[in-house]
Amino acid sequence: MTPENDQQALDLDFVRHQFPFFETELSKHWAFFDNAGGTFPCGAVVDRLTRFYRENKVQPYTHNAVAGAASEQMGIGRSVIAALLGVPESTLTLGPSTTQNFNTLGNACAALLEPGDEILVSEQDHEANIGGWERVASSTGATFRLWPVNPATGELELAELEKGLNARTKIVSVTHSSNILGSINPIREIVQAGRGVGARVVVDGVSYAPHTWPDVLASEADAYDFSTYKTFATHLGVLYVDPGFLEQLAPQCHFFKVGTPSAHLDAAGPDHAAIAALAGLGDYFETLHDHHFDSPARSLEQKARAISGLMHQHEQSLCALLLDALSHLPVRIIGRTTVDGREANVSFVAEKHPAKVLATLLAERNIATSGTHFYSFRLLRKLGIDTDDGVLRISFAHYNTEDETLRLIDALECILR
Ligand SMILES: Cc1ncc(COP(=O)(O)O)c(C=O)c1O
Repeated sequence: MTPENDQQALDLDFVRHQFPFFETELSKHWAFFDNAGGTFPCGAVVDRLTRFYRENKVQPYTHNAVAGAASEQMGIGRSVIAALLGVPESTLTLGPSTTQNFNTLGNACAALLEPGDEILVSEQDHEANIGGWERVASSTGATFRLWPVNPATGELELAELEKGLNARTKIVSVTHSSNILGSINPIREIVQAGRGVGARVVVDGVSYAPHTWPDVLASEADAYDFSTYKTFATHLGVLYVDPGFLEQLAPQCHFFKVGTPSAHLDAAGPDHAAIAALAGLGDYFETLHDHHFDSPARSLEQKARAISGLMHQHEQSLCALLLDALSHLPVRIIGRTTVDGREANVSFVAEKHPAKVLATLLAERNIATSGTHFYSFRLLRKLGIDTDDGVLRISFAHYNTEDETLRLIDALECILR
């Protein structure tokens, strides 16, 4: 199937050339491994954002040519993100962030819940996908339950999910992959288990999407959310909701917008420029795809998925180097010690230094990482980790190089031995 002249490895020079940051002087001295906090935006996104701000930053959908161009660019942004995901535009809500989108979704679910109903949320999740559900439970009289992680490993186990499910479970919410452990959860099996008792299953794809472009439809989730500021674009949350689920949800928009599916969960006025600039993500994936593959007729979604495969493979090779190095250092890796079943976010606790001190020592060597609980507070507490300090997290993006990774490993060996 693969044409012979397809490239099997990511062309890193070409990739980095697409990012304005890597043209800066600062970038020559710094190696960034805090990508799970937010990635650099690609140039195509920055260009579209700049163009919108320079030429079209007026109220869109009004009766003048400047506004007409603004509305047109926003329309393109919406259609490109839908095409990248291979879903109808009407299934997407573009909100300010995933936290806000989950809060909005929770509020929209409230009318479906009665006292005695149950909401089951994984303990592995970022608080963005826990606290809102807990509040919805308390305001509706529903019972809030946690799907507990294994206290030794932090992993979610399907047997524990089965124990937590029953005929009163109405919502199950879980992360596609953990922002601490990096472990990828078996989303389809989780969705099927939830469906088995008639529950709706909501997935947090924030940690997963930067490493593998999500196949939202294949996940079969009722709702799937991720944040585009972590996928090389502008600061938005993209919420997919299955049409059958959406029509059961209480509208969160102005009453006169009810009936427009893409506005149904619009609890906030959107960031016009950020939406318009999303089209740049399509440009980026397409440019990268066409550079590496000789299959121009593919759909945008197929192109995104193909290039994401190469990105993933590259990240895994860097992650393997790091995991191997860590195995010889006095650290407790939180999560799997090989690349199998995980994405390239690696967290650990070091014997010698608290996480925040270690992050500072690395920063002194121009290596950016981060040390905290990363809002997965309940997971860390369960694992017996001091939540005031947290873990040191090293998170890769596909634009990281082997040289940067070796520099990081050298620095860790110097500091921790
Ligand atoms: C796994 C996970 N879920 C949800 C969120 C919240 O996303 P947002 O910042 O878009 O609200 C984050 C943010 O870091 C995250 O890592």
